[in-house]
Amino acid sequence: MKEEILILPPEELKRQKGFAKKVRALINRPQSYHLVTYGCQMNVHDSENLAGMFEAMGMREKDKKEADVILFNTCAIRENAERKALGNIIWLNQLKKQRPELLVGVCGCMAQQEGMAQKMLKQYSFIDFAFGTGNLYQLPKIMYHTLTGGRCIEIDCPQSTLVEGMPIHRQGGHKAYVNIMYGCNNFCTYCVVPYVRGRERSRKADDIFRQAEGLLKEGVKEITLLGQNVNSYGLDRGEQDFAGLLSGLEKIGVPRIRFMTSHPKDLSHRLIEEFARNKALCPHMHLPVQSGSNAILQAMNRRYTVETYLEKARLLREARPDIGLTTDIIVAFPGETDKDFNDTLELVKIMRYDSAFTFIYSPRAGTAAEKLPGRIDKEVASERIQKLIDLQEKITQERLQSLVGSVQDVLVDGPSARGKALTGKSGRNISVNFAGDKTFVGTVQEIEITATASNTLRGKMKGR
Ligand code: 5AD
Ligand code: SF4
Repeated sequence: MKEEILILPPEELKRQKGFAKKVRALINRPQSYHLVTYGCQMNVHDSENLAGMFEAMGMREKDKKEADVILFNTCAIRENAERKALGNIIWLNQLKKQRPELLVGVCGCMAQQEGMAQKMLKQYSFIDFAFGTGNLYQLPKIMYHTLTGGRCIEIDCPQSTLVEGMPIHRQGGHKAYVNIMYGCNNFCTYCVVPYVRGRERSRKADDIFRQAEGLLKEGVKEITLLGQNVNSYGLDRGEQDFAGLLSGLEKIGVPRIRFMTSHPKDLSHRLIEEFARNKALCPHMHLPVQSGSNAILQAMNRRYTVETYLEKARLLREARPDIGLTTDIIVAFPGETDKDFNDTLELVKIMRYDSAFTFIYSPRAGTAAEKLPGRIDKEVASERIQKLIDLQEKITQERLQSLVGSVQDVLVDGPSARGKALTGKSGRNISVNFAGDKTFVGTVQEIEITATASNTLRGKMKGR
């Protein structure tokens, strides 16, 4: 049975606008905000909405040391993500002693976990407000209540609401994130996301197209579509599927389209065909494999096998020979034997990813894997991840080297880290540095690749 998707009534956003106005009218209200964002692109994008709401309350972004409100948008995917956020939140206790009027808030996936926000407010008296992923749009109300009534917690179940038309303050310039769906239905046994982001709900294709047209008018050149599992976009609505959405965005004239993240089980033949046809699609796919062992994939509830994964990757490469694939891999999942781990190394050798994010399994409260026997020793886990990193680094270098002599379409982002050159991303999502004038920022340039650096490419503008 399909769960009903509840679109937040526009009156509710109007109500929030009203709260923003009330905040603006308060005497001695905060004048500035600072957002600290952890985790994935979804959180980065959520922070753009949070910034939009702070701006609507008449506040401006400032440095952490000066801001009147500091809000932590947290991540709960692994224990070290939580530990890092908590460490930095606790550090604010000092700042608050110097500036008692400072307001401190916590939101995002960590705050959404059952009982967590209450626990944090109880334990840390300097935290003033907390809210969950499903309450994001209520920031104006939460700020108003905190300013007028004291400490405030808002945690609803994030299950099935879809919010359209939230204020936004974009960071990206010529690049933009667009959320196409929220939540996840997959319940991979290690993962906390379905518990903190609720069930899958896709936005209407027309709403996405309208937003994309607006972004093009603002001069955006590249749109990254976001969702926990973009490959199942639209299946809950039964209207447009993901391949159809990509095709529609190309028709509207979006010059460069990216997306993340894909689930291999939902990667459809229609999407593979779309890659062969749709020239606006950047030749890159992040396709998390997680493990190279069928037994572990099954224990993870990933619902594909190594063989079907390899076959889909082969078809993708056949459809789009210039495509670069990247992945996520978890080592030391409960019960992972040496043989299972070696199978992962073998898969990495076959796949020859451009790069990989590698993680040691981290038990998450409430997930199925938390209760599995066969926890792996820390030392074994460290040894395994190091072996995997070494192997992938070698492959990454070979991959980069194979691009020397090629010409890449690079969307220029700005000055490079050392400031002497320009930097941008190739279609394959690899950083490319080259000498050039600042006026090229925000344009796509053809760059001849001349050399590699650790994880980047160097080049020169074609014909110069
Ligand atoms: N432990 C380790 N890694 C995890 N990931 C998700 N949950 C966990 C966990 N409990 C990794 C997966 C996922 C990426 C975003 O984070 O590889 O693809
Ligand atoms: Fe987590 Fe799996 Fe959903 Fe990705 S697909 S968010 S790993 S449950």
